[in-house]
Amino acid sequence: MLAVSAAPTISAKKPPGILSLIGDTPLVEITQMDTGPCQLFVKLENQNPTGSIKDRIALSMIEAAEREGTLQPGGTVIEATAGNTGLGLALVAGAKGYRVVLVIPDKMSQEKIFHVRALGAEVRIVRSDVTRGHSEYYQDVAARLADEIPGGFYVNQFGNPANPLAHERTTGPEIWEQMRHDVDAIVVGVGSGGTLTGLGRFFNRVKPRRGIEMVLADPTGSVLYEYVKTGKLVESGSWAVEGIGEDFIPEIADMSFVTDAFEIDDEESFATARELLRKEGILGGSSTGTLVAGALRYCRQQKKRKRVVTFVADTGNKYLSKMFNDFWMAEQGFIHRRPHGDLSDLISHRYEAGEVISVGPDDTLLTAFKRMRDSDVSQLPVVDASGRPIGIIDESDVLVKVHRDPGHFNDSVKNAMTDRLETLSPSAKIKDLLDVFDRGRVAIVMEGDKFLGLVTRTDLLSYLRLHMPEESVPPAREYL
Ligand SMILES: Cc1ncc(COP(=O)(O)O)c(C=O)c1O
Repeated sequence: MLAVSAAPTISAKKPPGILSLIGDTPLVEITQMDTGPCQLFVKLENQNPTGSIKDRIALSMIEAAEREGTLQPGGTVIEATAGNTGLGLALVAGAKGYRVVLVIPDKMSQEKIFHVRALGAEVRIVRSDVTRGHSEYYQDVAARLADEIPGGFYVNQFGNPANPLAHERTTGPEIWEQMRHDVDAIVVGVGSGGTLTGLGRFFNRVKPRRGIEMVLADPTGSVLYEYVKTGKLVESGSWAVEGIGEDFIPEIADMSFVTDAFEIDDEESFATARELLRKEGILGGSSTGTLVAGALRYCRQQKKRKRVVTFVADTGNKYLSKMFNDFWMAEQGFIHRRPHGDLSDLISHRYEAGEVISVGPDDTLLTAFKRMRDSDVSQLPVVDASGRPIGIIDESDVLVKVHRDPGHFNDSVKNAMTDRLETLSPSAKIKDLLDVFDRGRVAIVMEGDKFLGLVTRTDLLSYLRLHMPEESVPPAREYL
């Protein structure tokens, strides 16, 4: 039997060798994208053990706490995080034999929660709909837990000086050496501000009086771009890029280092990250798109050749089902299909393009059920050998057959499916769709004999959400 609580049984005297692989990341030149007169290099922080730049600060903050005695053997490391910092801490503190408790807002993806749990961290889920000052605000809960748990150490990346120190002592010197002391500009994003402040300190030492430009790339909706440009703190909006952008100025972020700033919207960030993979073969996360887009804009504006560095701050593996998933991109409005102005615009998976997951009439119920689970849908069209939809099978159709005798999972789909189809032509109205949904069905869109695809309640909701007035979209909060 597998132990459910994965408290690590690790020798603190000799932690796993993987910790020695944090940092010393490679630097590679961008050669296939338009960098104007400049040379652009990216530092591959996605090659750190948990796949992000945050492994550096996790190591630095834990070791500083050990030196200062705020973290003792047998102690508990506590942080409010659902992002890369949680992964870094779960690895580093877990490897050193500490208990790790992460306070995670309830909107975070299951994938991230599975990942930190698999590393051995304990997870406390709290509300994401409350802000600073509320007793259930994730950072306040973490601070409280650190008081309550004997030997508890609250990491607090937003105010912890060992966060920028990691970049001042490791990231900065590595870039300086890799660029052979010849660098003109660094393009950074700000989440906690650790990277900006640490690099700002280092590069102002090696080339004083802003000899190396520090350029901010900030997601549209974050308050930092406007703050750099005007000194004003505006109201934040929402953005989908993860890991950078803020609705406040973090305690450790020294914004005075910033020499110039670019504002990059989600669509440009995602498109750039996808282009980076296609053209350069580099699998970066969404913020990498923001940084590279900002760096490219900076490069193209230059009159003289400059040597510019930016980051692949985390791995694109974390975004395969979002930014690298064409369906998600279309659903969110980041990929634009040519509109037909009719019902076919609501079809997320087009049959003709091979995008529809279906079953055949002679497939088994087990096949149908597995296919629904794997693709996270609750019904499938049943399509015959000529590509004609002849039925729909949903979870209740399967359940009716198997609930008494699971042996019926071997029955054919054709004996369980519904063959009364709700067919609509592309010219049908939303009202016709709603009538279909009211009857508990999904709509099969047919153009004459041609099967175009299904429209479900989710498709209609996604479509309507995309057409929501801009001003009524609530601001988002960034969790690092
Ligand atoms: C995913 C991601 N995390 C973190 C950072 C840096 O954030 P911080 O300001 O916390 O050092 C970046 C910066 O580019 C980033 O892209």
